[in-house]
Amino acid sequence: MLSFKTFNDKTLAGEKLTTVTCYDFWTAKLMKDLPIDMVLVGDSVAMVMHGFDSTIHATVEMIETHVAAVARGLDGKIWLIADMPFGSFRSGKTAALEAAMKFLRAGAHSVKLEGIRGHEDVVEHLVQSGVPVMGHLGLTPQSHLTLGGHKVQGKAKDQAEMILEDALHLEKLGCFSIVLECIPAKLASKIASELKIPVIGIGAGVEVDGQILVLQDLLGSNPDFKPKFLRPYAKISSVIREALSSYQKDVSAKTFPNAEESYL
Ligand code: KIV
Repeated sequence: MLSFKTFNDKTLAGEKLTTVTCYDFWTAKLMKDLPIDMVLVGDSVAMVMHGFDSTIHATVEMIETHVAAVARGLDGKIWLIADMPFGSFRSGKTAALEAAMKFLRAGAHSVKLEGIRGHEDVVEHLVQSGVPVMGHLGLTPQSHLTLGGHKVQGKAKDQAEMILEDALHLEKLGCFSIVLECIPAKLASKIASELKIPVIGIGAGVEVDGQILVLQDLLGSNPDFKPKFLRPYAKISSVIREALSSYQKDVSAKTFPNAEESYL
């Protein structure tokens, strides 16, 4: 049986944790036997898979559907985290727990939620109800309208102190891990050294306990998306476009299907 305690053990042993997003069944199936530590059905699904311009369009139903598909693909082999979408944890503890229950029943092992200020009670309630919770600080995209865009956070001293304070608070409330998004590497390193729980970074430098990337970003699905923190490990956009062009050419030239690809 999977347990988040193994992430603490790996962190204590100095081993880095690899985390990635996933939103669909067949990709999850490809991942399930790889040494990936955690998979996140992020609210980024609203942008990546549904074409919205921000994560605030993700809903409980949307996340639940994708969690169920990914869980079927992972077949219980990798720890699965469901993102609590915008608003789902700000209308009270009961509503938040109901959403978390849907995600756990759909196959997630835990939930992630952004920020802490104003919903400390929700984090505590989820943890005490038996839901493993991952925190998320720094750039919290659900608040991009109040943050003034998708910008690096924690550059100013008071902001940096606030992020550290919030991280310590999340740990105290019982979070099993936190994500730090787009903050200076030095600040992320300080937070990782002060916290016992694993700190996972995205745009937070190398001195944290692990990394997370959006799968489509690391596969190079959008050649125009080039944030500083991203290393594309493939050019999936070219692979897909070339395959489709070849298919179209073969169909037009009447060379697909050939005799071997046809039933007699
Ligand atoms: O939704 C998401 O993909 C995320 C990660 C970038 C951490 O929250």
